[in-house]
Amino acid sequence: MDFEIKKYGADAVLPVEIAEQVARIFEGNYPSAHTPENRAEDVAKRNSHEALNDLLVEGRVVFVAQDVRDQVIGLLEMREVDHDDGVYIQLVWIIVDALSRGTGVSSKLHNAFYEEAKERASHLSKPSCLLLSVHPENSSAISVYEKWGYARGEIGKDGKMFMYKDF
Ligand SMILES: CC(C)(COP(=O)(O)OP(=O)(O)OC[C@H]1O[C@@H](n2cnc3c(N)ncnc32)[C@H](O)[C@@H]1OP(=O)(O)O)[C@@H](O)C(=O)NCCC(=O)NCCS
Repeated sequence: MDFEIKKYGADAVLPVEIAEQVARIFEGNYPSAHTPENRAEDVAKRNSHEALNDLLVEGRVVFVAQDVRDQVIGLLEMREVDHDDGVYIQLVWIIVDALSRGTGVSSKLHNAFYEEAKERASHLSKPSCLLLSVHPENSSAISVYEKWGYARGEIGKDGKMFMYKDF
């Protein structure tokens, strides 16, 4: 399947028609392991052009996999979390449309994220690493993350497991 990864951020906001598809893919493929409360909160923050672009203005970046007809088939959201002693470059969400799974879409999204994170890390004055958090029952996502070199970490207050990866 032919697709390309496009990067949207504060300086390149999501066009309306792409944002609407991102919102649809996010809601329609939200991981089933999460609670209905988590789902409602997470979806509300990403359910419209305005909501998504608010996240970009905050400094988040969204990578979008778009096929040759500009149909959205997957997305990856990232942000930087600055702590006193270092910076986490966080993979906040990676979601691929059910019909497009198993074809390397998430691997390409992750490669784009990794290259962006590495470039940012090279300009930081503090140490940094990659971080994500995943529901401990989302075993398929955990398998994919381990394949990409993330190591299991502690369980956070929200019940999700942190996973870390060095550059
Ligand atoms: C997890 C998810 C993003 C993977 O997307 P995908 O596009 O199907 O993944 P890819 O085709 O790029 O596969 C990536 C690698 O993981 C492997 N993989 C994919 N799905 C897997 C599964 N269910 N179990 C084990 N390995 C899997 C692939 O074989 C591939 O390995 P390879 O490069 O050695 O061939 C997708 O299943 C998804 O969107 N799930 C629902 C949302 C979700 O749970 N997101 C994570 C939230 S924390």
